[in-house]
Amino acid sequence: MAIDVAIDLGTSRTRILLPQKGIVTDEPSVITVHKRSETVVAVGQEAYRMLGRTPPSLEAVYPLQGGVIAHFDLTEAMLDTMLKKVVSSRIRMPRMAVCVPSRMTDVEKRAVVQVVSGMGVRQVQTVEAPLAAAKSHGVLVVDVGGGTTDMAVISLNGTAVSRSTKYAGRTMDDAILQYIRQQHHLLIGQRTAESLKHRIGCVQAGVCDESCTVRGKSLLTGLPSEVVVRSDELVEPLQSTAAAILKCLRDLLEATPPELMADIHTDGLLLTGGAARIGGLAALLRQSTGLSVRLSDEPELCTIWGLKRRRKTQRLNE
Ligand SMILES: Nc1ncnc2c1ncn2[C@@H]1O[C@H](COP(=O)(O)OP(=O)(O)OP(=O)(O)O)[C@@H](O)[C@H]1O
Ligand SMILES: [Mg+2]
Repeated sequence: MAIDVAIDLGTSRTRILLPQKGIVTDEPSVITVHKRSETVVAVGQEAYRMLGRTPPSLEAVYPLQGGVIAHFDLTEAMLDTMLKKVVSSRIRMPRMAVCVPSRMTDVEKRAVVQVVSGMGVRQVQTVEAPLAAAKSHGVLVVDVGGGTTDMAVISLNGTAVSRSTKYAGRTMDDAILQYIRQQHHLLIGQRTAESLKHRIGCVQAGVCDESCTVRGKSLLTGLPSEVVVRSDELVEPLQSTAAAILKCLRDLLEATPPELMADIHTDGLLLTGGAARIGGLAALLRQSTGLSVRLSDEPELCTIWGLKRRRKTQRLNE
């Protein structure tokens, strides 16, 4: 099926691709609404800036959580607003490809299809995220996103085995937030925790050597305050997420048939998803499994580009 639009509706970011134009939207999956009337105030980047800063009458939320739709109406409103910004009403887009987590239930998948099908779409094809990101067969893809880590062994253009965990980018942010509160007696917001992770986050000791000043509210004085945080301090709080990803990977390998295991041994593991950028993750997975591990060039864009590429493959085969 040729497509008119591809959408990666992620927990952290929403990406929209038009085959002729490339990626036209890459924004946080956040929407701000008036609490009472539910009218949309902002979506994407603008709404993200409002997180933790809204007056009592407004609410800024991530409508997807753990890779699935948590607030149906808000997801629909967010996507509708984003699509209208980039697609003129004259362009029809009856054929759409949307990526979904590989372990999504049918009910959850139906919710995604329902959200997009309200937008003049006739055919919706759902593609599992690791499958979209895989460039070849017999390969192991580990997609560390915002709300899920989704991993699969790809064989013969399909998913042979898959596993997922809710430990991903967001659980790293939560762990950092808690650590800063407990160790430095400083209250910080979700956005600050995320930005700290981007700048100095690391899951292995001795790999990163950076520090960063963080501002927030002192638990001791209740006043604005700042502390300096080093990357090696964050290794410990980020352990729970790294360990859960590793456990999930071991489960997946255990369930993988021997023939595919041989392919994986040759082709190695492909790391995708934005949170795969965290310092030391590739090295940790390499050391723990003995596999060759490759971090994609633009790990957060593998899925959306893959949605376009797979359509080509399918057309040739049709
Ligand atoms: N340099 C970086 N270091 C660490 N984490 C990063 C970096 N850049 C982005 N991230 C994290 O990557 C995550 C977003 O990745 P991605 O866009 O692949 O997720 P998503 O597709 O929206 O989520 P999901 O697939 O779970 O639904 C966020 O948690 C973000 O903080
Ligand atoms: Mg994703």
